[in-house]
Amino acid sequence: MLARRAAWYQSSMATYPFPSVRELLAAAPGTAPVTVRGWVRTKRDGKRVCFFEINDGSTLKGIQAVIEKSRVDLDQAIEALQTGAAVIAHGTLVESPGKGQSVELQCDRLEVTGGAEGFPLQKKRHGFEYLREIAHLRGRTNTFGAVMRVRNTLASAVHEFFQTRGFLYLHAPIVTASDAEGAGAMFRVTTQDPGSPQAADPSDDFFGRAAYLTVSGQLAAEAYATALSRVYTFGPTFRAENSNTTRHLAEFWMIEPEVAFCDLDCVVTLAADFVRHLILACLERNGEDMAFFDARIAPGIVADLERVARSEFQRLSYSDAIGALTEADAEFEHPIEWGSDLQTEHERYLCDVVAGGPVVVTDYPREIKAFYMKQNADGRTVRAMDVLVPRLGEIIGGSQREERLDALTERMEQLGMDAAEYDWYLDLRRYGTVPHSGFGLGFERMVRYVTGMENIRDVIPFPRAPGLASF
Ligand code: 4AD
Ligand code: MG
Repeated sequence: MLARRAAWYQSSMATYPFPSVRELLAAAPGTAPVTVRGWVRTKRDGKRVCFFEINDGSTLKGIQAVIEKSRVDLDQAIEALQTGAAVIAHGTLVESPGKGQSVELQCDRLEVTGGAEGFPLQKKRHGFEYLREIAHLRGRTNTFGAVMRVRNTLASAVHEFFQTRGFLYLHAPIVTASDAEGAGAMFRVTTQDPGSPQAADPSDDFFGRAAYLTVSGQLAAEAYATALSRVYTFGPTFRAENSNTTRHLAEFWMIEPEVAFCDLDCVVTLAADFVRHLILACLERNGEDMAFFDARIAPGIVADLERVARSEFQRLSYSDAIGALTEADAEFEHPIEWGSDLQTEHERYLCDVVAGGPVVVTDYPREIKAFYMKQNADGRTVRAMDVLVPRLGEIIGGSQREERLDALTERMEQLGMDAAEYDWYLDLRRYGTVPHSGFGLGFERMVRYVTGMENIRDVIPFPRAPGLASF
């Protein structure tokens, strides 16, 4: 089939896309005409020549272009060459006498397709808070270019990881009627006019019942894992919790593998392998960007990530974690005792002081975890696991699922859940039930962890958070 296809399928890649700045920077000097397309980052006037740097987002550093000022035919174009302007520059690649690049563009023809009078991103470094207000332009800065390239590598590495391990990519629905986490922090989806008399009755609404944006694709993943064995979702999820923190978004992306015939240990191993794979992908493919983060954002991050990628993730039961925290020689803002949820400060302490690296905490009290987790024989804990990493805290949450019909329905009853609403989910236990496990990795938390960026709002193109949804 492949051979037959090769005969008639002609890729257009030779002519499109045209070479990127990244490719041109790796090319040898020569006499062949080349064209550089991108946005001007800087412009510097010499006596005879004008230097300008063109960046097209393919690399951190743009390509330097040089133009003779004696070319009166180019006067107007040179005038319009401001920071932020879009240009198409023709010329040849010559050896660069300057430091930091081996070639530069000797430009002999220049089109400025769009000037940039009053462009808000000038040479000085802008604060991230200000850049959030102009999120539509911040991709033109070094930091956001690097973040988006690393984000892209991570997305690609997610699929590689699962595709090479026999997992099927599952598209979980975004509009859903069930609260997968039982936490109730959901956005309502409706076509009803809130002021209308019908609005009070969801059965008059578009879906004939109340509908929400999904908080997790897990329940859908469980349905397909108990048919196709290994699946993963990678899609947007939504939470209406009013958390104005540096690690919560109202709209974020989550990766959720779900594996049949897999217990908690099996899925903890998968999670640790997954995190290590993602880190390595960025270190291997985004060297220049990672060096930038190391120099400008989080000193030491590259060495730190290299160490984590090589290390075993330590495991600790929740009860042992509480033991370590209550004996800790540290002042916590939130008091801690058995039964309370771990706060970020506790999670960090466990990583930084107790484990000296990432740590997987297992077997949490059932009262602080979701209804679907498998109950332990002690009657008070469940087979939950959270992966905690230094600097950040929780990056993954998962569990072995309760596969016993009676135990699951009993737990749902205790929590006052309407079993009829979850009847389809209970069917998975009625017909061919099997031990199975899964977890969710918050994609933006991962991007934050790898880049060292301090605020989760700065690792997604357009952040949505309480009071924040620019267009
Ligand atoms: O721990 P959580 O709530 O687990 C679940 O949703 C399960 N259904 C996952 C599963 O077992 N399939 O969320 C999983 C991860 C968290 O560890 C965190 O990294 C991320 O999702 N996360 C958020 N990221 C950004 N903003 C938020 N508001 C987030 N809430 C959770
Ligand atoms: Mg969690």
